Amino acid sequence: MVMAWEVAIHLLLQFLNFSLVASTDTPNIVFIFADDLGWNHVSWNNPSVLTPHMQVLAETGVILDQSYVQPLCTPSRSALMTGMYPFHLGRQHGVLAGPMPTGLSRNYTLLPEKLSSLGYATHMVGKWHLGMCDWSYTPTYRGFDSFYGFYSGSNDYYSHNTSGNGHGSGGFDFRDNEMIAFETAGTYATELFTEKAVEIIENHQTQENPFFLYIAHENVHFPYQVPKEYYDLYPDVEDDDTHIALGMVSAMDKSVGAVVDALKSTGQYDNTVIIFSTDNGGVGNLIDANYPLRGNKAHVWEGGTRGAGFIYSSLLQDIPRVYNGLMHVTDWHNTLLDIAGSQSLPDNDGFSQWEALKTGQSPSPRDTLIYNIDETDSEKGIIGAIRVGDYKYIMGESDKVNNEEGPWLFDLSDDPNESMNLVLEKPVLANELEELLLGELSTLVPADLPKGDPAGDPSNWGGVVSPGWCPATTE
Ligand SMILES: *[C@@H]1O[C@H](CO)[C@@H](O)[C@H](O)[C@H]1NC(C)=O
Ligand SMILES: *[C@@H]1O[C@H](CO)[C@@H](O)[C@H](O)[C@H]1NC(C)=O
Ligand SMILES: *[C@@H]1O[C@H](CO)[C@@H](O)[C@H](O)[C@H]1NC(C)=O
Repeated sequence: MVMAWEVAIHLLLQFLNFSLVASTDTPNIVFIFADDLGWNHVSWNNPSVLTPHMQVLAETGVILDQSYVQPLCTPSRSALMTGMYPFHLGRQHGVLAGPMPTGLSRNYTLLPEKLSSLGYATHMVGKWHLGMCDWSYTPTYRGFDSFYGFYSGSNDYYSHNTSGNGHGSGGFDFRDNEMIAFETAGTYATELFTEKAVEIIENHQTQENPFFLYIAHENVHFPYQVPKEYYDLYPDVEDDDTHIALGMVSAMDKSVGAVVDALKSTGQYDNTVIIFSTDNGGVGNLIDANYPLRGNKAHVWEGGTRGAGFIYSSLLQDIPRVYNGLMHVTDWHNTLLDIAGSQSLPDNDGFSQWEALKTGQSPSPRDTLIYNIDETDSEKGIIGAIRVGDYKYIMGESDKVNNEEGPWLFDLSDDPNESMNLVLEKPVLANELEELLLGELSTLVPADLPKGDPAGDPSNWGGVVSPGWCPATTE
């Protein structure tokens, strides 16, 4: 009798399509994405930076030493959400600015929606920057159960007004789910995000399903603004922007500490995987943000693309470790689905790194990386870079510091800061890599960066950055 009931309930649940894949021991995932954080602005690469909470996670977990991101915000976020290289999405050139009537292609089912169908509760706090001209581009329509943050690329940290990124008049940009959250004006963004993240973690503890919490911090993107207590931590830094930016790094570190405390006090810490990564390299006007790497944000040089990051979980084996396997931001997509127990992984540009990250016993599944292919530069033609094994080939990139002309070939195992161009020494290899890179042009989706549409100007929407003005043809 009992057996029959069990079978009946089982069949009923199947019939109702209940998601039973994620059991209670499937781990929670906290993915923390920093904005414009340079390689040299974290304590595990530079001990004079004060990031004690992250340092504990990094030095007791797995430091990601070869973890690449895209050179810019929108492209990196696009890659994370889809598992696709931005040049396969039309997102290879620039960022979504102001009232551009487009967004991350709706052709794709994004990571949170997939995690949701695996039984995860999905929450986002922070910066979206993947489009908002129509509600269907915004986080709560793309798989997040909840959203607390902003749609644009950069806001004032206190007023939460966006500058408009050079298109349109700017306006207030902060939402609690879909609701305009004027009550947040005046409070430092990082504090708001932290409070919400802690609240989500505390509210979750009674639920049976795991959660995915995506914390996309605004720090340390300009404008440079930070509460005095963090600024005061760096009395010896003379350059003022760098001084403030370092304070912003420490403010973000405090937030990471609060998230860890909340996980611990609710008994969820041991069953959570915490991932931390920057979205791209630090900006060039900050002093030594990516030292000793060459170049900065917006460039395919290592300084723009080799991201500071770590993964921590008590589920990881053989820790602490440094992971030298090659990784790319597209890999997080399948890695997270793997952590979530997905039966099959999608065919995209990424690889699950979970086995290698978890055990430390297997090599990276990736040996090739395309940093970017940008076909839009009328002067230089193609700007792009590819890495196969330890060799990196770069074409079309600009070099404002040394005024060098490419192309370049580097052996990164020997020359991680890209100082010895081997193009003349190894012309055959350089040619092969160029052909591999250009071979990808046949799969490129042309860059989708339409002119700003005055219809989206916040002045038409009560001074608030608001969806509702996409042309019907937008993908
Ligand atoms: C979206 O799908 C359409 C129809 O298949 C295709 O033409 C278009 O190139 C796709 N866009 C992107 C950005 O993948
Ligand atoms: C990069 O490496 C070369 C050779 O080791 C060195 O001369 C140069 O100073 C380095 N650059 C930086 C920014 O560390
Ligand atoms: C922010 O934008 C709102 C709405 O447009 C406006 O009322 C407010 O004055 C702005 N605040 C600042 C500090 O610019």
